Amino acid sequence: MNSKVKKFYITTPIYYVNDRMHLGHAYTTIAADVLARYHRLKGERVFFLTGTDEHGGKIEKAAEKLGKSPKQLCDDNVRRFKKGWEKLNISYDNFIRTTDSYHEEAVKKALEILHKKGLIYKGVYRGLYCLGCEQYKTESDLVNGKCPDHKKKPEIIEEESYLFRLSKFGEEIRKKIKQDELLIRPEDKKKEVLEFLKGGLKDISISRKKVKWGIPLPFAPHLTTYVWIEAFLNYLTGVGWEGNPKKLPEFWPADVHLMAKDIARVHATIWPAVLLGLEIALPKQIFVHGYFTIEGQKMSKSLGNVIWPEELIEKFGVDGTRYLLLSACCFGKDGDISWGKLKEKYNADLAKGIGNLVSRVITIGETLGFKSEALKLRQVHSTEIGKQIDATWKNYERAFDEFKLDKALDSIWKLIAFCDQYIEKKRVWEESKEQKICVLCLLYTISEIAKMLESFLPETSNKILCQLGLKSDEKKCVFAVEKKESLFPRLNSK
Ligand code: MSP
Repeated sequence: MNSKVKKFYITTPIYYVNDRMHLGHAYTTIAADVLARYHRLKGERVFFLTGTDEHGGKIEKAAEKLGKSPKQLCDDNVRRFKKGWEKLNISYDNFIRTTDSYHEEAVKKALEILHKKGLIYKGVYRGLYCLGCEQYKTESDLVNGKCPDHKKKPEIIEEESYLFRLSKFGEEIRKKIKQDELLIRPEDKKKEVLEFLKGGLKDISISRKKVKWGIPLPFAPHLTTYVWIEAFLNYLTGVGWEGNPKKLPEFWPADVHLMAKDIARVHATIWPAVLLGLEIALPKQIFVHGYFTIEGQKMSKSLGNVIWPEELIEKFGVDGTRYLLLSACCFGKDGDISWGKLKEKYNADLAKGIGNLVSRVITIGETLGFKSEALKLRQVHSTEIGKQIDATWKNYERAFDEFKLDKALDSIWKLIAFCDQYIEKKRVWEESKEQKICVLCLLYTISEIAKMLESFLPETSNKILCQLGLKSDEKKCVFAVEKKESLFPRLNSK
């Protein structure tokens, strides 16, 4: 492997398997997939890690309710997650399960190290615990005495416990975040974390007495490991770490951990502290995207408003789903969706926008008999359309550099709108002296659009290139157009 080639290591959170995957999981994972594909296309060495978080009381209880063993529940839901990712064209390099033995073994080694260094010590822990979050809460986290996310009163837990000296690392972490050594983006999320860190950090319990479904603590095997501690370590074990801080995987440190705001704070406190304790470099960036609500409400099974990715795929297709989720809101800000809004956008941007443009231009190309029609690239470069393409690539790349995925899409759709106007302005359907070159320029623009779409909508990109019958070298493009089925059939108003 060529070590001079830039590497890009991206992770999603590992998802809880108490249920099947929902739209929120799909959003993060599609976004990570788009970023992974983009960096691969740039020629970088990419590692894209996703997976499942399988231990802990929450899974144990969910399994009990269903009359299954925890392992059985995990296996069943992992199958559903994997099937979903396959359908959605998710190009992950590894799918880690925290019940995989390679993960469990490395976790035990890491815990031994922290214990030997005195960073894990025995004590008694008393605190308010929310099972839904699998996290201890402070009074100030609660609204009317309840967890604001799960609307339940946390339980008071007091038990013999092993604690991690989180308090030792608060100041160092605060400095690193402040100086962007550990980048937290968007800026408002960085501010929130810094504000929280001002108060210092308290030691946390990393063992569970009552939870049986977990990794036994190597130095106290009658206790299991707190699920978050081991879950974080997936980011290392998932790229081959075996538990030795002196032997780090070539992909470490992660270039970006992607997640929503619900778990940003733990990622910006406990995770860096564990790494500092193990004397391992911190990840480069934590990027926090927004949270989806459905028609203004939190998506929840009890409200009956959950949108399952399978339903979206059924209605809008795989690429339709990928597009609609990523364009639904500004990446990094919260968003609200509804079936009505999604359908409207599908018809406007996909059926009418890209679908209509490709179909129109290919039809004209066919009428003109473009079976092997060449366009010299210098014929495009100085034209208004050529300039538009260059400007679009610039905006597109800038958007990617800043993780503004919706903006990258926006720049492509502006180019689509430009093409629509160009068709009207030049009346390219009419026979004229200029007609042939204008249609060739449009075909070329569509081929560039297909390239820009490759990370977002890989199937559509491929379908467009097939219809164009494009063969190109540095100097020219040759088109052999052939109309195929419509990219995004219009949905009726029902
Ligand atoms: N298992 C932990 C993560 C451990 S990572 C070391 C966990 N799992 S989770 O299944 O609850 O997934 C949370 C993540 O799912 C969020 O951070 C986000 O990436 C995604 N989303 C879940 N619901 C979402 C929305 N409603 N909107 C956007 N993303 C959402 O936390």
